[in-house]
Parts: sequence; C-alpha cells; structure tokens
Amino acid sequence: MTVELFDITDARRLEEALAIRLRVFVDEQGVPLELEIDEHDRDDLGAVHVLIRESGEPRVAIGTGRFYVLGGDAVQIGRMAVLPEARGRGAGAAILEVLAAEARRLGFAVARLDAQAHAADFYRKFGFADGGERHWDAGILHQPMSRVL
Ligand SMILES: CC(C)(COP(=O)(O)OP(=O)(O)OC[C@H]1O[C@@H](n2cnc3c(N)ncnc32)[C@H](O)[C@@H]1OP(=O)(O)O)[C@@H](O)C(=O)NCCC(=O)NCCS
Repeated sequence: MTVELFDITDARRLEEALAIRLRVFVDEQGVPLELEIDEHDRDDLGAVHVLIRESGEPRVAIGTGRFYVLGGDAVQIGRMAVLPEARGRGAGAAILEVLAAEARRLGFAVARLDAQAHAADFYRKFGFADGGERHWDAGILHQPMSRVL
C-alpha cells in the first residue's frame, strides 16, 4: 500500500477521496450528501487529506481520511473511510498513523476526533481516549476522543 498526502488544490486526488467517502458514508451508512461534503473539502487550504492505494496495477485508491486545524495546537481528524472490500488489511491503521505523523510534523500537539461509536475500539488501539459525551450526528452515535501526538 502507498499513502499520499494532499490538499484541496489537488482536484484529482480530492475527487478520488470524495468518491470513497460517498460510497462509504452516503451509500453504506446513509449520511446525507449535503452533510458529507463540507467547508474543509471546499475551501479549507489548511486541511490535510490522505489517499491510500493498493500496491500493483491499477493503483486503485481504497481509503481516505483528513484533518483540519482546530486552533491552538490541536487538529481534528475525520472522514476516515476504507472501501468495504479492502477492510481488515491495515489500510485504516496506515491512514490514521500518517495523519497523526503529519500533524506532529507540522507542530500540532493534540489530535481530536468524533469516532462513530462502533469504531471507538479501532481508535483506542492507536492511543485515543474518550474525551466527551456521546452524541448523535447524522443519525449515527459518536464518541469524542483525543490523543497527544
Ligand atoms: C473503521 C475503518 C476505517 C477501519 O479500517 P480498516 O482498514 O478495516 O482497519 P485496519 O485493518 O487498519 O485495522 C487496524 C486494527 O483495528 C482493528 N479494527 C478495525 N476496525 C475496527 C472496529 N470497527 N472496531 C474495533 N477494532 C477495529 C483491526 O482488527 C486491527 O486490529 P489488529 O491490529 O489488532 O489486527 C473501516 O472499517 C471503515 O472505513 N469503516 C466504515 C467507515 C467508518 O465507520 N469510519 C469511521 C468513522 S469514525
């Protein structure tokens, strides 16, 4: 697998990332399209996006994620998605580790995220701890979590 970091000026990679998110969040999970794509995809030049591809040819993109700056020394990680047929092979772990490493490299000290409650144990494996009240968003129960980078 290979991992690519990019920002919203890279229209081709952004389109590939959004195609994965639409399949996973809108088609699979039923999140409304108008909630799925937001200002951090449209006009946040500071947001950092990731694409992960299978090795070999064709180099199909199978997963994505992003973070944006929250202010102070914190970033918000989100929109972590791996295509169903590619799950369980380390792609999610690679996306999360690359996002955390890039945020650390840029000088941020804390990463926050709103985990879907069913995925909270995934994030716990990577050092995230519960950091707030569970709440409903887009019809899905979420658990706020954070970790020091
Ligand atoms: C959550 C998601 C990104 C994980 O991606 P993935 O590529 O399947 O995860 P990985 O193969 O890298 O798994 C890494 C580790 O986490 C574990 N894990 C994966 N998904 C998990 C889950 N939902 N709950 C608990 N543990 C999980 C794996 O077993 C693996 O553990 P191991 O290292 O001990 O073997 C992926 O399942 C997904 O896209 N789900 C749908 C969208 C979603 O819910 N996104 C999260 C929004 S908060």
